[in-house]
Amino acid sequence: MGKNKSLCTLINILIVIWVMFPSNQNQENDQSLTLSERYKHWKIKYRVIYKDDAEEEKHIQIFKHNVAYIDSFNAAGNKSYKLTINRFADLPTEPSDDGFKKRKLEPTTSSLFKYKNITDIPAAVDWRKRGAVTPVKNQRECGSCWAFSAVGALEGIQQITSGNLVSLSEQELVDRVRSNWTNGCNGGYLIDAFEFVLENGGIATEASYPYRGVKGNNSKKVSRQVQIKSYEQVPRNSEDSLLKVVANQPVSVGIDISGMIRFYSSGIFTGECGTKPNHAVIIVGYGTSNDGTKYWLVKNSWGIRWGEKRYIRMKRDIDAKEGLCGIPMDASYPNINNIV
Ligand SMILES: *[C@@H]1O[C@H](CO)[C@@H](O)[C@H](O)[C@H]1NC(C)=O
Ligand SMILES: *[C@@H]1O[C@H](CO)[C@@H](O)[C@H](O)[C@H]1NC(C)=O
Ligand SMILES: *[C@@H]1O[C@H](CO)[C@@H](O)[C@H](O)[C@H]1NC(C)=O
Ligand SMILES: *[C@@H]1O[C@H](CO)[C@@H](O)[C@H](O)[C@H]1NC(C)=O
Repeated sequence: MGKNKSLCTLINILIVIWVMFPSNQNQENDQSLTLSERYKHWKIKYRVIYKDDAEEEKHIQIFKHNVAYIDSFNAAGNKSYKLTINRFADLPTEPSDDGFKKRKLEPTTSSLFKYKNITDIPAAVDWRKRGAVTPVKNQRECGSCWAFSAVGALEGIQQITSGNLVSLSEQELVDRVRSNWTNGCNGGYLIDAFEFVLENGGIATEASYPYRGVKGNNSKKVSRQVQIKSYEQVPRNSEDSLLKVVANQPVSVGIDISGMIRFYSSGIFTGECGTKPNHAVIIVGYGTSNDGTKYWLVKNSWGIRWGEKRYIRMKRDIDAKEGLCGIPMDASYPNINNIV
């Protein structure tokens, strides 16, 4: 039994302001410009506002530090992935743990694991190509990654069992899931989301209950579009078990986003990161690159400008049982039918 943090609070604390009007300019990454010119371009592009000069000066120092790191990382060019100066550039990469809620993780018993005896595991899976993944969404300045992650897994299994891809409502979860560890934009926990959908008799569609990015009134009456029979946790610290699930449906997972992962731009991410999940994402596939590196295909909820066409590929099958960034530490998935 280990201790774990409630997911998402980190992002909630970190985000200063969200991208409202995307621009395609990339001058903040242009090394022929001075650092202060790059900062100015970055600040305009991401519409960053500080409460006063002292606050700005603090963030400029962090910006310079991160830019120096990113420039030299990319110049070295000896890793399987690239970094970029994105909207996280003025934020510290090693925030304190203050304010994180903690909960105990119950042990998972693999004898109850529905996919335990699966042997038909394709070499590669991409649920996007099979139409089971909605376009990447944006949690904005709300620590609701847990809701986006759960919804991604629900959308996936709904499409796989019914053939219909329907975008589902994160906002309903943000407004209505309550537990000791889950509270709207202040972070949450994946199984609390699934438990709610089970007890609530379903979850509304995105169209009927659109995302607002703030916790709101929970008295809204909406029809429960997608119902589940149960949900399960993947046996902890087992990338093999996780693979069996992803071969059958998209999976919600917690990952640790401490360190430079937030500046990820392309390639297969290999670390550094920790193994204390503090963010939640959806695994929508896996594969092996041309040079033989195995990876997980991961859908994030940081909007359209992040990562490799909005996704991240993360190294799979590493020696440590906790996986890269804790990927197999806290994974779960909903069941609609017994499709095995
Ligand atoms: C990559 O390059 C950096 C900077 O030149 C160097 O410090 C580091 O040791 C290199 N890493 C590997 C694995 O070669
Ligand atoms: C897996 O196979 C074993 C041995 O046949 C069986 O006892 C067990 O119930 C199976 N588990 C599942 C989840 O199907
Ligand atoms: C939730 O917190 C309350 C107050 O600390 C505690 O009494 C209760 O047992 C907790 N519930 C669970 C399910 O842990
Ligand atoms: C919630 O919505 C209901 C129905 O629209 C309304 O009567 C109530 O005042 C709202 N409560 C809050 C706190 O906004």
